[in-house]
Amino acid sequence: MAFTKACSESDIAIGDKKRIKVGDQTVLVFHLEDGFYATAASCTHMFAPLARGKINDGCTLVCPFHRAEFDIKTGEVQQWANFPPGIAQLTNMLRKQKALATFPTKVEDGAVLVDV
Ligand code: FES
Repeated sequence: MAFTKACSESDIAIGDKKRIKVGDQTVLVFHLEDGFYATAASCTHMFAPLARGKINDGCTLVCPFHRAEFDIKTGEVQQWANFPPGIAQLTNMLRKQKALATFPTKVEDGAVLVDV
């Protein structure tokens, strides 16, 4: 695919994120201290909308449903679903740990481009 404009640099404050449709994909675009990153918008556990998740420690995304944690830059799982205790372990028998898709980004002339 080709890089496509997702938003302007000024649309997302540092430390924040935004759900954006880019081409056929809906992605989350993050503005971290060292630049822009993009991931899939749904959790790989049970498809929670990650736009409602929280950013921890500047580069970890916490799912709002069962608190899986993903590295925003790589998509790797830092901690799999663990909430609520007991129930999450049951769902984990059905849904094995899976990284979040990430997409390359770049900034050109104040525009954030994502390669979806
Ligand atoms: S849906 Fe995200 S951790 Fe369960």
